[in-house]
Amino acid sequence: MTLSEDGSYTAYSKEYEEHYHSTRDGALHESLVKHVIPAFNVIKEDEVNILDICYGLGFNTLATLLHCKRNFPNKKLNIYSPELDTLLVKSLENFTYPPEFDEFRDVILTLSREGVCKDKNISIEVFLGDAREYIKKFENKFDIVYQDAFSPSTNPMLWTQEYFADIKKSMKQNSILTTYSIAFATRLALYKNGFFLYINRGDGFRDATVASLHELSEFYKVDMEHKISCNKDAQPLRD
Ligand SMILES: C[S@@+](CC[C@H](N)C(=O)[O-])C[C@H]1O[C@@H](n2cnc3c(N)ncnc32)[C@H](O)[C@@H]1O
Repeated sequence: MTLSEDGSYTAYSKEYEEHYHSTRDGALHESLVKHVIPAFNVIKEDEVNILDICYGLGFNTLATLLHCKRNFPNKKLNIYSPELDTLLVKSLENFTYPPEFDEFRDVILTLSREGVCKDKNISIEVFLGDAREYIKKFENKFDIVYQDAFSPSTNPMLWTQEYFADIKKSMKQNSILTTYSIAFATRLALYKNGFFLYINRGDGFRDATVASLHELSEFYKVDMEHKISCNKDAQPLRD
């Protein structure tokens, strides 16, 4: 475990040689400001379907529960989260989470042991397997997608143009995708699938990206045509 800047612990993957979160932005803080808060600033539905790619330590799922409990206690949340690493998920009942997640101790235990957790307002499924296969099952389903795979250089299969084509198919028209990646190749892969691209900028964290299939007024738009004209050789990742 690694202590990150906001006082919450994250972990380091020896396989991918990368931390699960930005240690500088802080694990819980990153989850809230790069994914959960921008997503719920746009999506106002009473019932929300979320694709959380990938479950990892579960911060994005748990931060969603936290944010909604504090701000939208009656919202119904359906979270779908693939994760390849079965041993990681099984180990999470012993992970040291921030005190903000204490109230979700039962959720953490149930997901770690059984992979499914349901009560009146929440339904969470952690699918143990490959996200590439998992996302193909869904069409016009998700209001929110948290794109939080390891970086494009270490886990390229979860950042290609073809991958984002499947993601797009799984999303509703009025939906939003959030990601920490500001790489031009990532934005290009999304743009080539018809997404509008926006900068998620704020105090206390590095810039991130928001993508949507409809125009958003809440964020600064990235002028992709201009950037493409300045980077004529740039290409998105491909399968
Ligand atoms: C950066 S971490 C996710 C962090 C997580 N969102 C959180 O908040 O704790 C990336 C995760 O992707 C998982 N992963 C890598 N390739 C995958 C794949 N093809 N399908 C599903 N999960 C995958 C890794 O095992 C790792 O747990």
